[in-house]
Amino acid sequence: MAVLPIRTVPDPILRRKTKRVISIDRSVKKLVSDMCETLHADEVRVGLAAPQVGISLRLTVICLPGEEDIILINPLIVRRKGERLVSEGCLSVPGYVGELHRAESVTVKGLDLAGKEVRLKGEGLLSQALEHEIDHLNGVLYIDHPGCAETLRKLEPEDKEI
Ligand code: CO
Repeated sequence: MAVLPIRTVPDPILRRKTKRVISIDRSVKKLVSDMCETLHADEVRVGLAAPQVGISLRLTVICLPGEEDIILINPLIVRRKGERLVSEGCLSVPGYVGELHRAESVTVKGLDLAGKEVRLKGEGLLSQALEHEIDHLNGVLYIDHPGCAETLRKLEPEDKEI
């Protein structure tokens, strides 16, 4: 296991659409384990997408405070419900938070580490993290959302970086 360095803007890998995981082999399992360790290296971290550690694969790890890691391989959002204004930051855009609109809840389909299909419905912070991480897998950063760039402010200690 290893804590991996985080890629930050303007690294072009963050803008690339990722490739689907074809086989959950040893290298993918090692990557997931390193991503989990990297996520837990700092308690403010909520989620991590593979491009943020330099690997352009459709894979993300999310962990909400006090809960187990959620590993999603080839995730897709199949349903979005509602809309709300949220504050958001990102490890790949260090030091800033901005405001944007996210869904109130999302339903995501993907595979777990065993290759089993999972369907997950998230609300609140989980819903926001799912949208944020799946955006990463499509080469999209939160600052790309309409109007967000104008709201950027310096990160305060109580803010979370997704
Ligand atoms: Co991010």
